[in-house]
Amino acid sequence: MAETLFLPQAGSKEEIYEALIPQVEALISGEQDLVANLANIAAALREAFGFFWVGFYVVQGQELVLGPFQGPIACTRIAYGRGVCGTAWKEKKTQLVPDVEAFPGHIACSSASKSEIVVPAFQDGEVFLVLDVDSDTLDDFDAVDQRYMEDLMGILEKTRTT
Ligand code: SME
Repeated sequence: MAETLFLPQAGSKEEIYEALIPQVEALISGEQDLVANLANIAAALREAFGFFWVGFYVVQGQELVLGPFQGPIACTRIAYGRGVCGTAWKEKKTQLVPDVEAFPGHIACSSASKSEIVVPAFQDGEVFLVLDVDSDTLDDFDAVDQRYMEDLMGILEKTRTT
C-alpha cells in the first residue's frame, strides 16, 4: 500500500479506528520484520490520535525492553510485574488506567502522562510484547480504545514476524 494514511477529518473515535485498522493491517501484513511493523503501528496510532506517547515494550527474559515508539524518550527496561506494563504482562490482560497516580507502582517516564492503556500481544499463549499508550489528559481511554487496540494486537499476532 502507499505509505499515506487516509483518516476521516472529523470522525468519531470509532470511525477513525475503523478507517485506521484495515490500513495498518495492509501495511504490516506484507512485512515480516517485527521492528518495522511495530514502528509503523506506533506512528499510525500517533498520527491518527495525537497521543502523547505510543510505543512497545518487548519481552526479553524477565524484563520488558523498550521497542519502537513515538513521543518523548522513555525508560528502557521494566521488570516482570512492575508498573502498568509489567502488570499487563503478569496478568496477561489489558490495563486501562484512567489516572496513573492512582495505579500502585506506576512508572512515571514523564510527569506529563496522566492516563494510560497497556495491551499485551501473545505468541503461543505467552505475552511477547505490550503496546503502551499514554495521554496527557486524565481518563482519556475507554472500552472503545481497548477493543480496537486489542484488535490491532490480534492482527500483529497473526502476522508472521521475525
Ligand atoms: N508508565 C509505564 C512505563 C512506560 S512509560 O509510560 C512510556 C508503566 O508504568 O509501566
